[in-house]
Amino acid sequence: MSDEREQHPSETFTFTQLAQDGAARRGRIDMPRGSIRTPAFMPVGTAGTVKAMYLDQVRDLGADIILGNTYHLMLRPGAERVAKLGGLHEFARWPHPILTDSGGFQVMSLSGLRKITEEGVTFQSHVDGAKHFMSPERSIEIQGLLGSDIQMQLDECIALPAGEKEIARAMELSLRWAERCKAAFGDQPGKAMFGIVQGGDHKELRVQSAKALAAMDLKGYAIGGLAVGEPQDVMFDMIETVMPFLPQTKPRYLMGVGTPDDILGSVQRGVDMFDCVMPTRAGRHGLAFTRHGRINLKNARHAEDHRPLDATSDCPATRDYSRAYLHHLVRAGEPLAGMLLTWNNLAYYQQLMAGIRDAITGGRLAAFAAETRAEWVKGDL
Ligand code: GUN
Repeated sequence: MSDEREQHPSETFTFTQLAQDGAARRGRIDMPRGSIRTPAFMPVGTAGTVKAMYLDQVRDLGADIILGNTYHLMLRPGAERVAKLGGLHEFARWPHPILTDSGGFQVMSLSGLRKITEEGVTFQSHVDGAKHFMSPERSIEIQGLLGSDIQMQLDECIALPAGEKEIARAMELSLRWAERCKAAFGDQPGKAMFGIVQGGDHKELRVQSAKALAAMDLKGYAIGGLAVGEPQDVMFDMIETVMPFLPQTKPRYLMGVGTPDDILGSVQRGVDMFDCVMPTRAGRHGLAFTRHGRINLKNARHAEDHRPLDATSDCPATRDYSRAYLHHLVRAGEPLAGMLLTWNNLAYYQQLMAGIRDAITGGRLAAFAAETRAEWVKGDL
């Protein structure tokens, strides 16, 4: 198979495009801690752990990079403490690349009282209610203390729907914060700092944001502020709107997305990297993603179903356990339910990404997408 994990050690952060099929790209990021095959799905390891998984398992499923969160780790156990303990890679025992989100999005979605000024954001911890301040410079400092390989700019992501003035204000503030993050990050050849396109569901503001970030000559570009409640066609429309303005030679990362269908559609529009809590969170809530679509193991119809989720899979969680047993574990609230379903879901997501990469190489992504979608629709009967 052409997609086997190969390491191409590189002292500098580099992105190489290996194949193209329509707008979709297959590529590879090389950096000192390893190589990342793109399009890539990054499992979310918010607090230094991909919930309910051993990181060795996550690696074995095909993940080349995982995500960590500035917001959670600064509150607990603290960035300075992680640094003292050797950095996040050493602390969590994941020696491969790590991308950290900047905290902007999590402050908005998780913290209590918060106040945004030009200087930064003041917020209340969801852990103990303590007051914290984060500036663009402090976000980059924390990501450096964690030892993150790909760092994200601090941004302001607003909830949709929102008025044009409010969307423009947050987008422009995010651009100024991108400049400050770039200066704070400085020159670190083996690492990268990505900018984040904002602009809500407003095309002109999205284009303005993408153009201004492209002019900053950053090492990669994320598209933020999507999958925040808008319909899928609006999200795809925004991706298509900004793509022409994001440099071809840099990786493009769609933050917080998404369902397998969102990922497929976004790859077809030129996205190279994804992260989402969906496979891990849904797994802990009894939902399995499979080749034949989603299966809700809570449902009573599985109570005596001896079939595994998918007998053709090579993931033990998918292949070896009956739906009846999984249903029982979910109903009984057993920790193993979340462990097995997360394992299954991350295996499915990584298989999907491997299939996508192979299809791009073979110039048959459209056929792959059509076949994959047709299988989902078949359901689990
Ligand atoms: N995760 C999902 N969406 C976003 C976003 O817009 N900004 C940041 N920083 N993280 C995100």
